[in-house]
Amino acid sequence: MILVTGSAGFIGANFVLDWLARHDEAVIGLDKLTYAGNLESLASVKNDPRHIFVHGDIGDAELTGQLLKQYRPRAIVNFAAESHVDRSIHGPEEFIQTNIVGTFHLLEAVRTYWSVLTDEEKTGFRFLHVSTDEVYGSLAKDEPAFGETHRYEPNSPYSASKAASDHLVRAYHHTYGLPVLTTNCSNNYGPYHFPEKLIPLMIVNALAGKPLPVYGDGQQIRDWLYVKDHCSAIRCVLEKGTPGEVYNVGGWNEKANLDIVHTVCALLDELSPRTDGKSYREQIAFVTDRPGHDRRYAIDARKIECELDWKPAETFETGIRKTVQWYLDNRDWVSNVQSGSYRQWLEKNYAGRGR
Ligand code: NAD
Ligand code: TYD
Repeated sequence: MILVTGSAGFIGANFVLDWLARHDEAVIGLDKLTYAGNLESLASVKNDPRHIFVHGDIGDAELTGQLLKQYRPRAIVNFAAESHVDRSIHGPEEFIQTNIVGTFHLLEAVRTYWSVLTDEEKTGFRFLHVSTDEVYGSLAKDEPAFGETHRYEPNSPYSASKAASDHLVRAYHHTYGLPVLTTNCSNNYGPYHFPEKLIPLMIVNALAGKPLPVYGDGQQIRDWLYVKDHCSAIRCVLEKGTPGEVYNVGGWNEKANLDIVHTVCALLDELSPRTDGKSYREQIAFVTDRPGHDRRYAIDARKIECELDWKPAETFETGIRKTVQWYLDNRDWVSNVQSGSYRQWLEKNYAGRGR
């Protein structure tokens, strides 16, 4: 079996669902169930005998040590993290605790477990660390996309904490020989995405008749990948990747934020038109920019494509249509995550941003 941390979050839940749809191999999910963790996303596999869910913290080495001893997974996929840049600006401490200290404790528990495996089990074992393109910093308009050897230049507390965790993972390979793999992926979108991030926030706010807050001039560029393509890339790296190597994952899909918002509005105009006949674009509101806002991210995905023969299945056009349709079809999931703490976050992040 495999151990998946952060399994109740956006990408972790998609990964578990896709894994169980494709494999007979069991999954143990470990998640602290922070505001971003949602067991409803895993409701369809709740009673699946191949799925065990454990509520806990990657920083709790006693718990992870006991889980490893009991279930003896052949691989770990580490998604668990604090993941939202804006939250890291308002309060970086949780990011340091989970992304750096938590990853360190997890690595220590894994090292202890791995060091007493048989030689064959040791060689076959994998620790796959899921990271982000944000560790590479921000690109100017005409600079080439991030390759795996691009220098680390994180600019937000979030990306700095992910960069630190990447370095720890790398060090555990070089120092102890732990068979690690690291993936650095671009921005994901798709089902089960918490509506604090750009795409789900725009869909949810549009349908609720609320403003669509675009930071600054809306010309910041992100490289978007449908979440299920990220999951297929992780399965591919887990199966075929070389221990100690880093693989950048992306879909060659650079888009300015304002273009993303226009696309979401156009799809909603088609699939769920406003009753007054106007376009959802009318709800766009330019607001004060994010401090230290990275201008452009772009991933050079040639290594994973050429060495591991991976390719995304979705184009941006097919992926975004599926995503908008999913939010239209799953309004209960959306309303259930809009708890009191979600509303408090919106007040905190968007208060005083009006222009
Ligand atoms: P998310 O915030 O939706 O989910 C994170 C999950 O981790 C949540 O379920 C949360 O409860 C859990 N968690 C947080 N702290 C924990 C702890 N101490 N112990 C155990 N569980 C804990 O994030 P996501 O978008 O699913 O991202 C998953 C991973 O992928 C992160 O490591 C992130 O850095 C990385 N990543 C995300 C993107 C993206 O666009 N979302 C892109 C590239 C990489
Ligand atoms: P986000 O989804 O938070 O991902 P990240 O910061 O990790 O790239 O934001 C994506 C882009 O959208 C980023 O440039 C910030 C911008 N953005 C807005 O313009 N308005 C918003 O309300 C949010 C949440 C993000």
